[in-house]
Amino acid sequence: MPGGWSDPGRVAEYLSRGIPNREIAETLLLDALPASVDRFLDLGCGDGRLLSLVRSRHPDARGLGVDSSEPMLSRAEARFTDQQQSVELCNHDLSRPLTDNDVVAANAPFEAIVSALAIHHLTDERKRTLLAEAHELLFPGGMFVNLDLVCSASQVLHERFRQAIGRPEDDPSDRLAPLCDQLGWMRDAGFAEIDCRFKWLEMALMTGRRAPSGALPPRSTA
Ligand SMILES: C[S@@+](CC[C@H](N)C(=O)[O-])C[C@H]1O[C@@H](n2cnc3c(N)ncnc32)[C@H](O)[C@@H]1O
Repeated sequence: MPGGWSDPGRVAEYLSRGIPNREIAETLLLDALPASVDRFLDLGCGDGRLLSLVRSRHPDARGLGVDSSEPMLSRAEARFTDQQQSVELCNHDLSRPLTDNDVVAANAPFEAIVSALAIHHLTDERKRTLLAEAHELLFPGGMFVNLDLVCSASQVLHERFRQAIGRPEDDPSDRLAPLCDQLGWMRDAGFAEIDCRFKWLEMALMTGRRAPSGALPPRSTA
């Protein structure tokens, strides 16, 4: 396994790897977006794959992608050289608060915040605070849509997933959390309409809506 996301070798290896069922999950991710998207934020945007997909569904939307990997951001810059009015990229370490980032603040609020295969690299505590920040950065009625890796139900299923995605060994930077916990953290962050709209082994599509003004989500009983 090559090094971290600042390693161009690791980035190239990831981008060359096929992930089964990814296109199905991404289509469902796009289906979960609001009918109208003017501005959206992509957390851990990588080479801009998801920014591009969202804009294919919402061609007039302006996307902001944040990531801490320079090799990934370089790939994304190359992808969007002719779309600089519509796509902005920003180096941001997601372990730090989004609210500290002036570019994020200048673009907020968003109709949608999306993420794919990135948030599982953060500690559970940071996942929870990030969810709360994402909730506050959305317009009332806006959607948070996160396609990410979650804990497998067993070691056997974990091995099956790893083999299916062509990874010879575990990624030491993965910090997988159970799906149920993550849906609960979304509820704690204030999201309503929390759902898992797709799950295949370790890959899950988690969605939640910031309640429209005046409509409060049910209070947590946990
Ligand atoms: C598996 S890639 C996914 C990239 C892209 N979202 C996609 O769907 O292909 C994980 C991405 O998360 C980014 N990432 C991991 N930890 C991060 C952190 N602490 N802050 C910002 N980005 C991070 C990596 O740089 C990488 O681009």
